[in-house]
Amino acid sequence: MEKKNGNSCILAITAYLLALGFVLAFASPTLSSASNMFPGFIKWHVYIVNGLGNNQNLLAHCKSADDDVGIQNLSPGSNFTWSFRTDFTHSTLFWCYVRKDNASASFNVFWYDDRLFQKCDWKKCIWSARDEGIYLTNFDEDVDDLYYQWDAGE
Ligand SMILES: *[C@@H]1O[C@H](CO)[C@@H](O)[C@H](O)[C@H]1NC(C)=O
Ligand SMILES: *[C@@H]1O[C@H](CO)[C@@H](O)[C@H](O)[C@H]1NC(C)=O
Repeated sequence: MEKKNGNSCILAITAYLLALGFVLAFASPTLSSASNMFPGFIKWHVYIVNGLGNNQNLLAHCKSADDDVGIQNLSPGSNFTWSFRTDFTHSTLFWCYVRKDNASASFNVFWYDDRLFQKCDWKKCIWSARDEGIYLTNFDEDVDDLYYQWDAGE
């Protein structure tokens, strides 16, 4: 009997917290602490930027297990973006294959990780392909982090 009471009390608290979470997330989308607690409610944006020198084009093909963003041909200095919400199993993963003259790279651009979310300022992950490698704009420390190297060839 006591155990049953204890369980229903925990259930009531859980239901209350869930309800509070929904209210916070939907009623005040600008309240960033609510977003930080519930990454699932954030609309995430990923950018791929052609930051290459020598007037090179960048070919990019990004996808997840469920979505194919399509093949993009980026002229020098241009970018493309797409957006999505994470699934509630925290398994959302997007990756890209990019190619420039004489080199290519395959790398993850979005995965479920608070450190990445922090760098992306809880809304946008900006990946820039440069001659020296692939960089992520780190909004947390106001720097660009070198994340991935080019592989020679295709
Ligand atoms: C992407 O390109 C648009 C249009 O040129 C520009 O306004 C925007 O600042 C670019 N975004 C990034 C992250 O480079
Ligand atoms: C690509 O390789 C060719 C042949 O080796 C070379 O002439 C060219 O400069 C290279 N391009 C770049 C951008 O490195």
